[in-house]
Amino acid sequence: MATAQYTVLLTGASRGIGLHLTKHLLLGGKTVYATCRDPSNAKSLQQLKEEYSEKLIIEALTVNDEESIKTLVEKLRNNNRTFNVLINNAGIYSTMQKETLLNSTKSSMLGTFEVNCVAPMLITQHLYNAKLLEKNALIVNISSIMGSIQGTTQAKRGVSYCCSKAALNMFTKMVSIELPNVCSISVHPGWVITDMGGENAPVQPDESASGIVKLIDTFDPKTQNGAFLQYDGTVLDW
Ligand SMILES: NC(=O)c1ccc[n+]([C@@H]2O[C@H](COP(=O)([O-])OP(=O)(O)OC[C@H]3O[C@@H](n4cnc5c(N)ncnc54)[C@H](OP(=O)(O)O)[C@@H]3O)[C@@H](O)[C@H]2O)c1
Repeated sequence: MATAQYTVLLTGASRGIGLHLTKHLLLGGKTVYATCRDPSNAKSLQQLKEEYSEKLIIEALTVNDEESIKTLVEKLRNNNRTFNVLINNAGIYSTMQKETLLNSTKSSMLGTFEVNCVAPMLITQHLYNAKLLEKNALIVNISSIMGSIQGTTQAKRGVSYCCSKAALNMFTKMVSIELPNVCSISVHPGWVITDMGGENAPVQPDESASGIVKLIDTFDPKTQNGAFLQYDGTVLDW
């Protein structure tokens, strides 16, 4: 980022990678608007608030509810808040257990797409149209290597998840081309120990989150706008 002290709006901050991103951004002195579905139940986030009372602002946002997005954007606009970085982190794996190509349902596909792809698009759109994104703002879409088309060489579970992240990657690319004064990247956070990643994952959430914050800090719009990056900076195949 061109500026060292930036302000971030982040989704899905109640737990997992979103919670750790919040912590690492705060450690770096950033101001974080951390959003989650139910702030009163987000205990770990509330604990962080005790330590960072001024730099951490917790807001309610259910990403697959457009009214919730509009309510938050309206509140932010009324308070004259603007952002240098938006991190679309909230995500779900699939609404189905053991979802395959042959048993996936319309409901699973649509439900997963709503959270993983439609929500980042609507949040970006509402923030942009309300002029809440600063010049040269960076949109970070937390994607997954499971959405890589070139990386798909064998059968996969989580069909809706894979397809939704591939669609999110396309959205990233389109933002990088179509929105003046806004950059975007898709980021694979690694296979991380969280509720989604499970306990056998090889990457600790602190390692993933600190890597993603470093990516943001060192982002170069000339060479990285519209890129698909791993948390450690490795360039990934679409
Ligand atoms: N963990 C991995 O190995 C891995 C690998 C690749 C990509 N990712 C991506 O990384 C991101 C974070 O994953 P994670 O591992 O931290 O998952 P997680 O531990 O399951 O946490 C998911 C977060 O998303 C929030 N969320 C889900 N649906 C939401 C909705 N409708 N509205 C608002 N918030 C919602 C959850 O909030 P609640 O607490 O309210 O449920 C929670 O804060 C996701 O986009 C995921 O696809 C993860």
